[in-house]
Amino acid sequence: MCGIIGYIGKRDAFPIVIKGLERMEYRGYDSAGVAILDGSLHVFKKKGKVADLYNFAKDSAPHGSIGIGHTRWATHGIPNDVNAHPHLSESGKIAIIHNGIIENYAVLKDALLHAGHTFKSETDTEVLVHLIETIKEKDTLSLFAAVQQALTQVVGAYGIVVMDETDPDTLVCARKGSPLVLGIGNEEFFIASDASPIVEYTKKVVYLENDQIAELKRNGEYKIETISGTPHTPFVEELTMEAEAIGKEGYDHYMQKEIFEQATTIHDALRGHILPDLSVHLRGVEEMIASFNGARRLIITACGTSWIAGLVGEYFIENLARIPVEVEYASEFRYRNPVLDERDIVIAISQSGETADTLAALELAKARGAKTYGIVNAVGSSIARMTDAGSYMHVGPEIGVASTKAFTGATIVLALLALLLAKDRSTLDDSAYEQLVTSLEKIDAQIADVLATEKQIIEIAERIKDKDNALFLGRGILFPVALEGALKLKEISYIHAEGYPAGEMKHGPIALVEADFPVVVVATNKELLEKVISNVQEVKARGALTIGIVREGDTEAKKIFDYTIEAPNSEELWMPILSVIPLQLLAYHVAVLRGLDVDKPRNLAKSVTVE
Ligand code: AGP
Repeated sequence: MCGIIGYIGKRDAFPIVIKGLERMEYRGYDSAGVAILDGSLHVFKKKGKVADLYNFAKDSAPHGSIGIGHTRWATHGIPNDVNAHPHLSESGKIAIIHNGIIENYAVLKDALLHAGHTFKSETDTEVLVHLIETIKEKDTLSLFAAVQQALTQVVGAYGIVVMDETDPDTLVCARKGSPLVLGIGNEEFFIASDASPIVEYTKKVVYLENDQIAELKRNGEYKIETISGTPHTPFVEELTMEAEAIGKEGYDHYMQKEIFEQATTIHDALRGHILPDLSVHLRGVEEMIASFNGARRLIITACGTSWIAGLVGEYFIENLARIPVEVEYASEFRYRNPVLDERDIVIAISQSGETADTLAALELAKARGAKTYGIVNAVGSSIARMTDAGSYMHVGPEIGVASTKAFTGATIVLALLALLLAKDRSTLDDSAYEQLVTSLEKIDAQIADVLATEKQIIEIAERIKDKDNALFLGRGILFPVALEGALKLKEISYIHAEGYPAGEMKHGPIALVEADFPVVVVATNKELLEKVISNVQEVKARGALTIGIVREGDTEAKKIFDYTIEAPNSEELWMPILSVIPLQLLAYHVAVLRGLDVDKPRNLAKSVTVE
C-alpha cells in the first residue's frame, strides 16, 4: 500500500523522485525515503510526509541520475526513520524499496542471522535485500540474476525496485500482487506504483504483470523475464490521462475537487453509452450478454466504498433485470469457500483496480470457473486486465483517499448495466424503460443544484464538528447511501459514525441516542417516506439532533428535521446518486473544520494492495 518511484537516465534523479513521491503520497504517508546513486549510495529517510523528507534532504541531495524513492504505509515495524525505506544490504551497497508483504520473512531472517547478518529495522523488506546480496556474492551473479533467484525463495506480495552501488547503470524491479508501471522515455526509464507520476515525462508505459522482473539500463535498453527465467516481450501502451488531471486545479483539497467534478465525471461515465434511440450500450456486457442472460446469479465483490456501490447495484439489477444478485466483501468472500461455478458471474468493483482482496476474490472466481466482469476506474490496472470483460468508470484520476466521484461513477455504470440487461430480457415495459433512461441522462445536469446546498451543509458541519458519534439512516436503496455517508465521516473526520437501515434502529442502535446526538437520515425515497418519518420520530423522542436529506419541495419531510438539505428530484432508483453528494460535502466540511488532513486521513491509503 506504499508508493514506489524509480528513475534512471540523464536527468538529476532527486527532483524527479521527490516529485514522484508527492504524486504517490496518497498510497501511504507514514514515512518517506530516497536513495540516490552518485558514485556511492546516498540515503535519506524520514518519518512523516514527503515534505518532511524534502526539507531534510534538499540541502545535501546529490546530483546522481539514478534514484529510487518510497512513501510508506506501515505493515511491519512502527512508522519511524529506521523502518522507512529504502533499506540497505549488509554491506550497504545495495538499496531496495518495497510495496507489499513478505510473509516468510521471519524464516529467511533467521537463516541470515545465523549467517552473521545484522538488521537495523523491524521490516520484512530489509531481509530481502540482505538475501539478494548474499546470493549475488555467493554465485557472483548480476544484480538482475540475484534478485530473480532471491524472489524464488519469497512468499508474499511485492513491488520492488533494487539499486546497486557497484552497477550504477542498472535498475531492477519486479512485481507479484503489488502494481508496477514502467515509463519508457528516450534513454531514460521511470518506475512507479501507478501511472500518475509518469505521465508528465512520457505516455509510453509497460504494465509489469505478476511474477515478472525487469532490468532497465541507462543506455535505454531493457528486458523483462518471469521470475522463473522465461523471456517476455514487453507490451508498450499509450497513456490516455493528462498530467493536468492530477492537479488540484485551484481547490484546497483533492477530495473537494473530486466532489465538485461530479457533474463532469457523471457526464463522462454516461457519455457514449446511451444513444439517441435511448438504447444503452456497454461493450463489455454486450460481449458477455449470453453469459449474463444465462447466469444463475451475479455476485458483486469489492471493498469499502466500492462494496457500498455494489449494494446500490444490487437494487438496480434485481429491480430492473430480475437477476438475483449477491454482494460480498472481497476480504471475506476469498476465504469463505463459496458455492461458485461456471453458471455464476462475479462482478468486481474497484476504483484503483489494485485492491488485493478484490484481486484475490477474482482469482478464486476464475479458479471456480465463474465468468468475471470488472467495473474499474484506473485504466490498465490489474483488475481491468484480469477480468473477462469490463467497463471503465471514466471519472479520471481519484487522488483523495476518501472516494467520492468513483462512487457515483460506479453507480452510473451499474445503472447502465441494469438497464441494458432489462432491455435485453424485456423485464421492463418500454415507457418505464424510457423514463428511467431519460432521467438518468439528466442526472449530471442536476449535480449543480446539489452542490449549491454547500452553504447549508457548512452550517450543519459547524453544528456537529465537535461530536464523537453519529448515526446515518436510510431505507431501501438509500440504506447503502447511509452506509456511505457514515464511512466518509469516519474516514476523514474520525467521528465514530454508523450507517443502519432505519428499520433496524429499534433493534439496538437506538440505545446510543441521547440529547443532541446527530442522526443523519437519507429520506429521499417517496415509497418508504412514511416509514422513515416514523423512524425519525423515534430518535427525536430521545432528543436526537436530526439532519435530513429530503427531496426538493418535500415540505412534509422538511418539517420534521432540525436541519434539511434538499436533493433534486429524479426517479426513485437514481436518488442514491443525488443523495450521496450532500453527505460527501458534510464529511468534507466537518474534517476541514476539525483542521484534519482531508486528502491523507490517518492510518489510510488510497489503494489497499496488501491483505
Ligand atoms: C473509500 O473512501 C476508501 N478509500 C476505501 O474504502 C476504498 O473504497 C476501498 O479501499 C476500495 O478501494 P478500490 O475501489 O480502489 O478497490
